[in-house]
Amino acid sequence: MVGSIIPSSRVLIDKMLAPVDWENTRLFVEYGPGVGTFTRPVLEKLGPEATLVTIDTNPDFTGYLREAIDDPRLVPVTGSAADVEKILADRGLGQADYVLSGLPFSTLPPGVGDDIAEATANVIRPDGAFLVYQFSPKVKDFIDPHFDRIERGFEWINVPPATLFWAYKG
Ligand SMILES: C[S@@+](CC[C@H](N)C(=O)[O-])C[C@H]1O[C@@H](n2cnc3c(N)ncnc32)[C@H](O)[C@@H]1O
Repeated sequence: MVGSIIPSSRVLIDKMLAPVDWENTRLFVEYGPGVGTFTRPVLEKLGPEATLVTIDTNPDFTGYLREAIDDPRLVPVTGSAADVEKILADRGLGQADYVLSGLPFSTLPPGVGDDIAEATANVIRPDGAFLVYQFSPKVKDFIDPHFDRIERGFEWINVPPATLFWAYKG
C-alpha cells in the first residue's frame, strides 16, 4: 500500500508543483502524504487563508502529520482517496483547486484506482488540476477517461525515477 520506501526528492517535488497557481488556490488536497515529504513544501507555498487536506489510509501517518506539523491550514484525515467527495463534504469544503497524488495506483486493489480517478475528477473545480507522480506510467489509463487534457513529464532525480502527470479539467 505504501509503494515506495524512499521519500520523493526535492527536484521531483519542485517539478510537480511548478504549474500550480498558488495565489488563486483555496483548497489543495494531497493523497498518500506518508511522512509529509510533499506536505511541507505545499504548506510553504500555500496562501495564509488556504486549506490543505491530506488523506492517507494509514492512521500512523495521519497521527504523525498532526503531531509534527503545527499549522492551522493543515487538515490530516485518515481515509481512502476513493472517499474524497464525502471527506470534503463532511468538512463543509467545496471543490478543490488541486489534488496531488503519490498513491501507488498500479498496486491498489482492483477497482480502487478507477474509483479514485472518478471521485477526483468530481471534486476538482473547472480549470483545476490533478497532479500525479508515479513510478509506473500505467496510472494514465486510470485518469485518461476523466480529464480533458493531460501533460506528461519525467524525473530521473528520484529513487526510483518517476513519471509526472498534470491532468486538467476544462
Ligand atoms: C509512495 S507513498 C507516498 C509517500 C510520500 N507522498 C512521498 O512523496 O514520499 C504512498 C502513500 O499512499 C498511502 N495510501 C495507499 N492507498 C491509499 C488510498 N487508497 N487512499 C489514501 N492513501 C493511500 C500509503 O499509506 C502511503 O502513505
